[in-house]
Amino acid sequence: MEAAAPRPGERVLDIGCGAGGTTLAVARRVQPGGLALGVDISGPLVEAARARAAADGSAQAAFVQADAQTYAFEPEDFDAVVSRFGVMFFDDPEAAFANIRRGVRPGGRLAFVAWRGPADNPFMVAGARAAAPFLPEMPAPVPDAPGQFGFADGARVERILKAAGWRDVRVDPLDTPLRIAEADLMTYVTRMGPAGLALKQADEALRRQVAEALEAAFRPFLQDGFARFTGACWRVTAGA
Ligand SMILES: C[S@@+](CC[C@H](N)C(=O)[O-])C[C@H]1O[C@@H](n2cnc3c(N)ncnc32)[C@H](O)[C@@H]1O
Repeated sequence: MEAAAPRPGERVLDIGCGAGGTTLAVARRVQPGGLALGVDISGPLVEAARARAAADGSAQAAFVQADAQTYAFEPEDFDAVVSRFGVMFFDDPEAAFANIRRGVRPGGRLAFVAWRGPADNPFMVAGARAAAPFLPEMPAPVPDAPGQFGFADGARVERILKAAGWRDVRVDPLDTPLRIAEADLMTYVTRMGPAGLALKQADEALRRQVAEALEAAFRPFLQDGFARFTGACWRVTAGA
């Protein structure tokens, strides 16, 4: 948000907005008169975001369910684009960032965060690693493939943005302390990713075994009622 610096009256696009947390944060900054438009490919998440904006009483936030890679944005319509972990999932990232850039006025800004690699983010892979021995064999992760760690290679991110026509591209490491309440941790780690999917089909005994393995894997992160970890990210900025 600091990097994008949305100002009153501006029109800002939030790519892969999920349930709209960042869109609403932008909406508060662009009032009066501006717009924060959240775009997400997931219908249920866009519905959740709309409900959240209604509860928030935000007149500045709107949402569209669409694939940001191909959605026909109005040309040169936006002053800025933001994303929190919403841009690593495109089949063709270069085409996607070229498409998004066409929606931004000349001189407009891009600012997003994406995860660095699994080696820098042990918390993010602890669940999958702990559950792996109990679950059907998963395909080995393919470097650069769309997904959570799709933008782990910062030099590649820079190449993609430049090829998509963005200028003044900067890719800087950003390490930030994050936490999840201990009470929410098991819900989070048993529903996320391929392990979450496999667990849905598991029987009660297997689920218990996996839960024990997960509890052991996350114990080292627990402190004062929270799982605490460092979010090892790229902070990426560019201009249109
Ligand atoms: C890790 S979530 C981040 C959500 C939100 N930005 C946040 O920080 O809470 C990634 C989001 O990107 C969305 N997404 C993935 N591919 C997309 C695409 N091609 N176009 C639009 N949204 C996409 C997903 O549906 C998901 O909501």
